Parts: sequence; structure tokens; C-alpha cells
Amino acid sequence: EKILKRGKEALGDLCEFLRNHVSYYDWVGFYFVEDGKLKLGPFVGEPTEHVEIPFGVGICGQAAEREETFVVQDVSKETNYLSCSPKTKAEIVVPIFKDGKIIGELDIDSYSPSPFSEEDRAFLEKVCELVSKVV
Ligand code: SME
Repeated sequence: EKILKRGKEALGDLCEFLRNHVSYYDWVGFYFVEDGKLKLGPFVGEPTEHVEIPFGVGICGQAAEREETFVVQDVSKETNYLSCSPKTKAEIVVPIFKDGKIIGELDIDSYSPSPFSEEDRAFLEKVCELVSKVV
């Protein structure tokens, strides 16, 4: 149980690390599936009012429903979108799987337009694979 707790604490450090090392990662946080909804976990960046998100709602909820990475290069073009900050221009959401089931996701908002490349996707999917081993 101690190892598990350390694992969750480490996620906050991981958010910090990602934000500090990639100039266009401005809000970095985790959501975890609980009671059939996404609940906000460790994050860095502006506080968000979206602490609970149903499946299918917003970029986060759509990624959870589809069980795949969702890259939005221009959030102003999305109708099913929950705004966390008016500064946010783009967002990437990567699901976290355990034993084939979605258990959560990594959500990154960017204040830069069209910032995400295939490299970001591959890198963040790898990060989520590693995270699934410690939660
Ligand atoms: N923008 C997200 C909501 C979460 S905040 O960005 C932290 C969405 O549309 O699901």
C-alpha cells in the first residue's frame, strides 16, 4: 500500500517534470476513472472547475469513451469541449490502460496553437504505459 501511495504522489512530480521540460505544455494533469466518471487527480497549472467529467463529455470524456488518444490542435473548433482556461489553444488527452481496461488519462493543455506532433503522441503514450504500472 505504501508503494501504491508513493506511486500516486509521484504523479504530481511527473506533471511538474513534463510542464517544466516542454515549453508548450501549460496544464498537465491526470484524471482517474471512479464510479464511472473521470475524477481529477494530481495536476499542475491553473485550477480547473472540471474536477468530475462524465464519459463522452469534453475532450477528456470523448477520449475516455473512445479509449484512444485525442489530439485537438485548435480547441476553438471543438463543440464538445470544456474550457479550463481561456488561454488554452490546444489539448491532448492520452488514456491509461490496465489489464486492457481504461483506468484514467493524462490531459495536457497548451497555450500555443497547433503545438502537438506525432512525437508528443508517441512520447505521452509511452509515459502512460509506464504510469499504468505504478497506479
Ligand atoms: N478541456 C477538457 C477539460 C479539462 S481541463 O482542460 C483541465 C475537456 O474538454 O475535456
